[in-house]
Amino acid sequence: MLKGKNIVLGVSGGIAAYKACELTSRLKKLNANVDVIMTKSAAEFVTPLTFQSLSLNQVVTDMFDKPKYWEIEHISLAKKADIVVIAPATANVIGKLANGIADDMLTTTVMASKAIKLIAPAMNTNMYENPVVQKNIETLKQLGYVFVEPGEGRLACGDIGKGKLAEPEVIELAIKELLLPVRDLEGKTVLVTAGPTVEHLDPVRFITNHSTGKMGFAVAERAARRGAKVVLIAGPTNLTAPQGVERVDVQSALEMKEAVMLHMKEADIIIKSAAVADYRPAEISSEKIKKSEEELTIKLEKNPDILFELGKVKGDRVLIGFAMETQNLIENAKAKVQKKNLDFIVANDLRTEGAGFAGDTNVVKIIDRQGSIEEVPLMKKSELADIVLDRALSVCNR
Ligand code: C5P
Repeated sequence: MLKGKNIVLGVSGGIAAYKACELTSRLKKLNANVDVIMTKSAAEFVTPLTFQSLSLNQVVTDMFDKPKYWEIEHISLAKKADIVVIAPATANVIGKLANGIADDMLTTTVMASKAIKLIAPAMNTNMYENPVVQKNIETLKQLGYVFVEPGEGRLACGDIGKGKLAEPEVIELAIKELLLPVRDLEGKTVLVTAGPTVEHLDPVRFITNHSTGKMGFAVAERAARRGAKVVLIAGPTNLTAPQGVERVDVQSALEMKEAVMLHMKEADIIIKSAAVADYRPAEISSEKIKKSEEELTIKLEKNPDILFELGKVKGDRVLIGFAMETQNLIENAKAKVQKKNLDFIVANDLRTEGAGFAGDTNVVKIIDRQGSIEEVPLMKKSELADIVLDRALSVCNR
């Protein structure tokens, strides 16, 4: 499958280095050429000979080793790589890459390479959550480095939390996706809405909800990876827009409606995963509301239902809604499909474990116009995003 592909695998110094052995072996089974570069500390955990035996290539650890072939080694590896993978990537290596430090063979090669870069971090939870590390990861993401999220669980140090190296098969899948991308949405424009809306009461306060935007951002990311032109209309979130996505930031439901109506014209597929406020304060006070009375009544007026408006004018476009319920999930979702003229709805129950706003997973039911129900088990939001896009594409091609 990966015949003719050159993978440079950087292994840095953590106990998870042993998992890179399995990764090497998996990549070799797919007929890739694998050149392993180890940091000095990685070589304390696993010997270069192990990687040499698995990759059937010389393993590079030291910049000042006598070259085996008369080439400037880091430049030649950097040039021939189709992808540079760092697994495990320590906080140290991530920090160096984000700050332009190239003081060993691995960081020098990465810096000299124009290939795709895939980073699989592994470290203690506190290190992973350290704002400096998070900032470095963010910097690299913005530069186009792709990350395979670490898993959660018991770490080698005994702590429990996020920081476990992703499983070798997950890293292998990410490599395959990057080297053999599926571009089945090429030529299509996908409009995605994400996040909450905020409805201002006065210059200080607003009404909002718990939506983080993770689901919509995952859909935007997957659609862009699959070749679509993506417009992402986002309420306030802390998330970074995926690469190659046109982001339009909005605050209120009214602003979201305006942006959606403007961009829907060019869209083939519209996915409304935003949690839009149903009501807004009837008046926005220009001054801060003072606490003078014992009681304060705020009059709310109805926001437009953007999805309902879209349903009236959708034409041939594929229109997908999301529904979050706390009761009568199926009946409510079925009614929304009809009322809002949707092709299908992705419904979840806020109280189901693994579903809901802030997490990285979801458990949903997909309900179509005919009322048929697909039960989608617990999975990552990015995987669910692909399922939603698969279904959208099959409606498009009908
Ligand atoms: O009717 P309900 O709000 O539960 O429907 C949820 C779906 O409708 C979501 O796809 C959401 O983005 C959309 N919606 C909307 N405008 C609103 C409220 C919800 O587009 N004012």
